[in-house]
Amino acid sequence: MSEVFQAPVGTHDVLGDESARWEGVIATFAQLAYRYGFSMIVTPTFEDVGVFNRGIGEKSEVATKEMYVFEDRGGRSYALRPEGTAPVVRAFVQHNPTPPFKAWYFTPAFRYERPQKGRYREHHQLGAEVLGSEDPAIDIEVISLLNDYFRAVGLKRFRILINSMGHDECRLAYVETLKAYLAARVDSLCAEHQKVWDTNTLRLLDCKKSECISVTDAGPQLPDHLCADCDAHFEKVKYGLDALGIACERAPRLVRGFDYYTRTTFEFVSDALDGAQNAIGGGGRYDKLAEQLGGSPTPGIGFGSGVERLLLALEAEGVTKPLIDRTPSVFVVDTTEDDVATALCYELRAAGIAAVRAYDNRSMKAQMKVADKSGARFALLIGPQELAAGEITIRDLRSAEKVEQVSFPRSEVLAEVLLRLGK
Ligand code: HAM
Repeated sequence: MSEVFQAPVGTHDVLGDESARWEGVIATFAQLAYRYGFSMIVTPTFEDVGVFNRGIGEKSEVATKEMYVFEDRGGRSYALRPEGTAPVVRAFVQHNPTPPFKAWYFTPAFRYERPQKGRYREHHQLGAEVLGSEDPAIDIEVISLLNDYFRAVGLKRFRILINSMGHDECRLAYVETLKAYLAARVDSLCAEHQKVWDTNTLRLLDCKKSECISVTDAGPQLPDHLCADCDAHFEKVKYGLDALGIACERAPRLVRGFDYYTRTTFEFVSDALDGAQNAIGGGGRYDKLAEQLGGSPTPGIGFGSGVERLLLALEAEGVTKPLIDRTPSVFVVDTTEDDVATALCYELRAAGIAAVRAYDNRSMKAQMKVADKSGARFALLIGPQELAAGEITIRDLRSAEKVEQVSFPRSEVLAEVLLRLGK
């Protein structure tokens, strides 16, 4: 027997009932993004490795430990995208569209992580990016889009954390202040950060160990060290969100994992999920990224949200019904070998009706079993009797007690089904 293959570790297939849930959350996002003035962008799944090394930072954890880097047969060095922002900015620099450029995407992302619930080696993100303006109104718009989206799909138990990382200068000055503070307290840090506190200082703010949390909590805070411009920008963002009734929590430790972030950073966390995998979306400004990728100075901001985590959060909140109905309206049962089913399905579908059928000329009983399972509203039955009379029987599959069925001349069936479906 041949070997049976499995999906690679940390990846998964989406099919059956699960796929309707995916379709629902993706379609809802596309619709909302359109309402906010975004259009879809599709970029390659792999990019020159430099796009990510320069974008997310050569020394970032994702670039050093998690990126899938490979050489193609022509000797070029590529990486499977670990995230969606750097490719969008690369495309922006390459095509130079008129700003503000507002794009949304649905994309797989690849990171060599230790797989666990909510953390995968291939996950999928819904994201949005805006390039070409540093107006705080855009920060507000981007955060409200994600907030509206999570509400639209039915999430209730989530919070928004917000911070500002300042621009390069005020952040660097803050890092020096933080270093000076830490220098006297190295022994109190966690074992890992005792080694890298002075080379990767900002990452300490991300550390989940209680030792690092208590030392950094008592130390200088990033938002208190912003320059006047960055501070004013952050105030406008917070004020604007507040005016819209979008509650945000200040999170001075929120520095996020990629080097491209400047000014506003934010994360949406689900209180229905476990701590380590509770980020259902996150993003921020990256006002220097276009320049780092060879373009002219162009500020930008965006977010990415993990579809798998979103679905886990919805499930944890008891929202399991797909957002769009993918059950068929009609199931055609044909036992005549005359293949009325083929022509009838064709006619129903052309009239906009979702029609499915059985194949292989199985028995009436077997076909009815599948029809019941399909969730269809009506079964259209064609047996030898109907064939001889030129009729089709419509059976209501959802009438609870007695079987309700009526026969109609073949030529009247379409009109009757349309009427019954309220079309
Ligand atoms: P990120 O925070 O690394 O940001 O990922 C965005 C979201 O993707 C996370 O909040 C989480 O929901 C999901 N996610 C990340 N890694 C995994 C994983 N291994 N398994 C399952 N889900 C995961 C970014 O990727 C940035 N590009 C976001 C951004 C856009 N910033 C500005 N614009």
